[in-house]
Amino acid sequence: MTLDQITALVRTIPDHPKPGILFRDVTTLLLHAEGFAAAIDQLAASVDDRPDLVAGMEARGFVVATALALKLGAGLLLIRKDGKLPGATIAEDYALEYGTDRLTMHVDACAPGARVLLADDLIATGGTALAAARLVRRAGAVVTGARFLIDLPDLGGAARLEADGVATSSLLRFP
Ligand code: PRP
Ligand code: HPA
Repeated sequence: MTLDQITALVRTIPDHPKPGILFRDVTTLLLHAEGFAAAIDQLAASVDDRPDLVAGMEARGFVVATALALKLGAGLLLIRKDGKLPGATIAEDYALEYGTDRLTMHVDACAPGARVLLADDLIATGGTALAAARLVRRAGAVVTGARFLIDLPDLGGAARLEADGVATSSLLRFP
């Protein structure tokens, strides 16, 4: 499938979750067997050096991180919203395009020096991915890069991640 064909599988919903936001809905891409597989294949092909772990941010990030981890032969690190993980955690607060939230990670989830690739369905302001990078680094691991199905470049997230030293790329761009 071409990038244009994959792009066409992402639905745009105006005014969600509040007026003025054009919500790029990845669920319609995930529903399409060939499109989903092609998107993951192409994203995985952009990763040169195999990470030890792929870290996904709850919830949509889990989908992309799981698929990438299996393709790359890496383990899967679940970075969860507050109050979900059963063991001892570290936490980072962050601002979203709409609201604030907190991400947590098991304090012993990655060995010091482990190489961790961040993955999510979409990067907007970058607040989520930057918080995930802080968690991974606090655990003594190394963030080797970040991959997203969708980038909203007008919101500046990918540039913020790059400025933080995280090599970032995405399959699709909107607008
Ligand atoms: C969405 C998306 C990213 C994040 C991007 O998740 O899946 O994780 O927002 O925004 P940012 O770059 O401005 O941080 P959301 O927090 O809505 O949670 P969900 O995956 O549970 O829907
Ligand atoms: N679509 C999906 N998720 C998002 C968006 C969006 O436009 N912005 C922030 N998270």
